Amino acid sequence: MSSSAKTFRLAILISGRGSNMAALIDAAQSGQIAHCEVAVVITDQSSAAGLQKATECGIETLIVERSGRSRAEHDREIVAALRERQIDLVCLAGYMRILSRDFIDAYRGRILNIHPSLLPSFAGLDAQKQALAHGVKVAGCTVHFVDETLDGGPIVAQRVVSVLEDDTVETLSKRILEQEHELYPEAVATVLARVQATQAASL
Ligand code: GRF
Repeated sequence: MSSSAKTFRLAILISGRGSNMAALIDAAQSGQIAHCEVAVVITDQSSAAGLQKATECGIETLIVERSGRSRAEHDREIVAALRERQIDLVCLAGYMRILSRDFIDAYRGRILNIHPSLLPSFAGLDAQKQALAHGVKVAGCTVHFVDETLDGGPIVAQRVVSVLEDDTVETLSKRILEQEHELYPEAVATVLARVQATQAASL
């Protein structure tokens, strides 16, 4: 790829721990995700633990609390912040809010999410608990595009994790999370490479 390749600007949205955010930042800063810069980390929770890590990595952080506003108003502020920063791709990483239609429309095809199950099984909350309750023998994680359906948009990548006889929600979640940290950067790299290839072909 030529050195004049565009640098893609990522925004990561978090609500808590931010371990997937950290994996994405590390992958962008190390060059594992080529031509990519994490431009901002946005949260709806001022107490989100991931904020400190983002700051330590030299990344701008922005707290946009819901504070009594409607979902539409809250999302409008976030979309304005994304546009101001000329964000190309939005990565949800443990962001606990459902996006409004206007948000999805503004960045359609450019919003990714990671979910701790093999979608379309076990969408929604407590995916690992749902998997154990159903007695499945394989679980895993999925990166998908975000659309109006709950965890239902087109799938980009998946990883399988075996369920062990004595697994608890905690032990299974831990092994799935390890795979999430590898899968999300790989999926982002795949999506950006596809965009690069499409843009090169149209030149
Ligand atoms: C992850 O399990 C992710 O799949 C789900 O929320 C969790 C976030 O964890 N959407 P972290 O904040 O990235 O550590």
